[in-house]
Amino acid sequence: MIYPRIIAHRCGGALTPENTLAGLRLAARLGCRGVEFDAMLAADGVAVLMHDETLQRTTPASGRVADTGSVRLAGLDAGSRHHPAFAGEPVPTLDEALRLCATLGLWANVEIKPSAGMEAETGRVVARHAAAATGELVLSSFSAAALNAAGAEAPRLPRAMLVEAIPQDWRQRMAAAGALALHAAASSLVAADATAVRDAGYPLACYTVNRRDDAGRLFAMGVSAVFTDRPDLWLAPEM
Ligand code: G3P
Ligand code: MG
Repeated sequence: MIYPRIIAHRCGGALTPENTLAGLRLAARLGCRGVEFDAMLAADGVAVLMHDETLQRTTPASGRVADTGSVRLAGLDAGSRHHPAFAGEPVPTLDEALRLCATLGLWANVEIKPSAGMEAETGRVVARHAAAATGELVLSSFSAAALNAAGAEAPRLPRAMLVEAIPQDWRQRMAAAGALALHAAASSLVAADATAVRDAGYPLACYTVNRRDDAGRLFAMGVSAVFTDRPDLWLAPEM
């Protein structure tokens, strides 16, 4: 699996409201080839792009995503909290985001982000919709239960194990999850682990890297890709 070097975090990084179609459009306009976003289930089981289990940080509403229907979510303003220029930017469904990625030619990392207790169901639904998408993508999750359910639903979709610090037993855990790549926090990365993951032939992608010099150090250590809130720092098309 070939990873783009630079992956815009939560669609367009910090330049646009997170997990929105505006973010995907900006990432593409910047020449960024890869994007990451978070997918969670609404009350009616529709997968939407959302990071937090609750609405108040990114929209004017409150309450839990898992208790809110997708029609109501689609009508919420997910843009103004970031900047009034984005007023009215909706909470997109996963399907809308996947379609736009395919249209824009964006490689996508769909992070399965289950509400508590919804791990397996979220993995299943996200994988079902991702399997129907035409663009290139990889699924990931901090939740082993979500990742396993995704694997059972869509075994041919590539999956990445997502962790903070790389655990000592990463080989066994990746094998158990059927993961083809490892995503880990840059802040706790140990050089020897990066080398071992690379030597084992797995892509290693690190979050969240907002300086070019930090990314350069990680690439020199064998890291394949970085998630960034600042995709504008890499404007060269070859990135
Ligand atoms: O998937 C990488 C990164 O997005 C994980 O952290 O909290 O931003 O979803 P978070
Ligand atoms: Mg994420």
